[in-house]
Amino acid sequence: MNGFPEGFVWGAATAAYQIEGATSEDGRGESIWDRFCRTPGKVENGDTGDRACEHYHRWPEDIDLMQSLNLGGYRFSISWPRIQPDGRGPVNQKGLDFYRRLLERLRERGIDPLATLYHWDLPQALEDEGGWASRDIVGRFADYAELVFDGLGDLVGDWVTHNEPWVSAFLGYAYGTKAPGATDWPRALAAAHHTLLSHGEVVAAFRAAGRKERIGIAIDLTVVYAASETPDDEAAALRLDSHRNRWFLDPVLRGSYPEEMLERHERQFGPLGFVQDGDMERISQPIDFLGINFYRPTVVSAGDGNPVIEVSEVELDGERTSMGWPIAPAALAALLLRIKRDYGDVPLLITENGAAFDDELDGGVVVEDPRRLSYLEEHLKAVRHAIGRGVDVRGYYVWSLLDNFEWEHGYSQRFGIVYVDYETQRRVPKRSALWYRDLIAQQANGRS
Ligand code: FCB
Repeated sequence: MNGFPEGFVWGAATAAYQIEGATSEDGRGESIWDRFCRTPGKVENGDTGDRACEHYHRWPEDIDLMQSLNLGGYRFSISWPRIQPDGRGPVNQKGLDFYRRLLERLRERGIDPLATLYHWDLPQALEDEGGWASRDIVGRFADYAELVFDGLGDLVGDWVTHNEPWVSAFLGYAYGTKAPGATDWPRALAAAHHTLLSHGEVVAAFRAAGRKERIGIAIDLTVVYAASETPDDEAAALRLDSHRNRWFLDPVLRGSYPEEMLERHERQFGPLGFVQDGDMERISQPIDFLGINFYRPTVVSAGDGNPVIEVSEVELDGERTSMGWPIAPAALAALLLRIKRDYGDVPLLITENGAAFDDELDGGVVVEDPRRLSYLEEHLKAVRHAIGRGVDVRGYYVWSLLDNFEWEHGYSQRFGIVYVDYETQRRVPKRSALWYRDLIAQQANGRS
C-alpha cells in the first residue's frame, strides 16, 4: 500500500486498565473501574481488570512482540491511581518506575511512545468528592499531569491529555454504561466541561514549562448520517453531530460550544453555570495534534430513542463486527476531509481504529482473522485517500495490540491483532498482525 508520507507512524494502542492487571500491587489505589466492576450487573460475566493481560508483569514480552511486528509507535495510558493512589499528593514511586522501565525499553527498541494521561481510570477517592462533575478535579488533574511530565517527560515524545472525553463524560455520567455509572445529565455536562478545561489547563502548563514534547487530545468521532432526506431527520443528524462530535471539537479547536445544542441544554437543564469566564480560551489552547478514534458511523432519525437529543438510532444494513458495529470505511475518509474543511489544518493522528470479532484459537500458531484484516486494510485505504486529498494525517494506531478487557463487555470482545488466551496468558498473533508487520516493512523498504 503506497501513498503514506515519510515519517508516518505505524503503531498499536492499549490502555492501562484494559491490559495491566496487578490492580493492588505496588501501592496502586482503587479506580472507578475497580469499583464499577464490583457493582453487580455492570460488567458482563462479572469480569474485572484484576488480571487482564498481566501486562504489568509481562511487559518485556509484550515489547518483544511489538518489535517483532515492526511497530514504530506504541500508544498506552498511564494509570492515575498508580501515580497518585488517592488522586492527590506525592508521587507513588513504584508506580512511576513501572512506566519508566517500560519507556526505557521502548526507547531501546526504537518504538516511539505516545502516552495518554487519562484513559478513564479515575482514582475512586476523587470520584467520592464529585469526580469530573466537580470543578476541583481540574486542579487535581493538573497536579497529576505535572508529576507525570516531571517523572517521564525525558522518555516520551507525544502526550495525549484525555482519551475520548465524550465516553468518559456522557457514558460515565449520563448514560451510565461506563464507570462511574451515573445517569444525571447536568452532572455529565459539567463532567464534559471539566474534562475539557483540565485538558486546557494541562496544555497551558506544558507550554509554560517550556516542554519540548508534543501534546494533543484523542476524541472519539463518528460520522452521523440522516436516515432520510426529510428535514426532521436531517435536523436530527445535525443534533447528534453536535452532541457526539462538535461538543468536543468546537471547544478545543474554536473555543466555543455549538450554539444550538448549548441553548437546548440550557432550556432542558437551566443555565450551564459551570462555564466560567476565561474557560473557553483556556480550553482552546493550540494543540500539536488532534487524535481521532474512529470505529463506525451512526445513522439517525428524529425520535425519542435518546430523549435528550431527540434522535433514534437506525440500524445500517450490511456487515457488522461482534460489537454490532457497522463496517463503513468510507466514513473515515469523509470524517478526515470534514475535519480539514471545518477546522483547518491541524495535524491528525488516528489514535484508535479497529474491530472486534469472535476469534478462535484452534491450536495453530496463528489465529485466522480475515475480517479484521480486511477492516484494517479498508480503513487504511480510507486514510490514504484523505491524505491524497491534502489531509495531514501523521500516524495510525491499531486498536488494539492485544485482546483485552473491553469495559462493560468484559473479556467477551476481542479487539487485538494478537490473541490472548486468558487462562495461560499466551499471546498468539492473528493473521492481521502478520499482515500489519509486513505492511510496515514494505513502507520502510519502499522509502529506502
Ligand atoms: C474506545 C476506547 C478503547 C476501546 C475501544 C474499543 O472507545 O478508547 O479503550 O475500548 O473503544
